[in-house]
Amino acid sequence: MTPTPLSEDQVGDILTTSHRNNPAKEITGLLCYDGHRFLQILEGAEDNIHALYKTIHSDPRHTAIELLHEAGWQIAVFQIGRWLMNMCPKAYCQS
Ligand SMILES: Cc1cc2nc3c(=O)[nH]c(=O)nc-3n(C[C@H](O)[C@H](O)[C@H](O)COP(=O)(O)O)c2cc1C
Repeated sequence: MTPTPLSEDQVGDILTTSHRNNPAKEITGLLCYDGHRFLQILEGAEDNIHALYKTIHSDPRHTAIELLHEAGWQIAVFQIGRWLMNMCPKAYCQS
């Protein structure tokens, strides 16, 4: 079944929650939404990322989560830096 698209406010709620929670866990990331599918990059310590992934996994706002890639954890520098949870400009999310 195709999930009902989320409104901008609903996506905004996810960002607000991410901005509230992620800094304390030193998690950074990037979130893209094309109106049907999310693509998210999460970066941080292994335990924190796994805990957040578990939370997101059981979130009913999406229906079919798929882990696309899991990189090594020994990074000294955060690749995504200060983007605590940035949103892709919509133009980049169009398929
Ligand atoms: C696509 C997607 C991405 C999400 N990303 C995050 C995230 O990066 N950080 C976060 O805390 N919650 C994220 N959430 C929300 C979590 O699933 C969950 O609702 C939230 O962490 C609960 O936080 P709370 O206990 O402070 O209300 C995301 C949800 C969705 C659907």
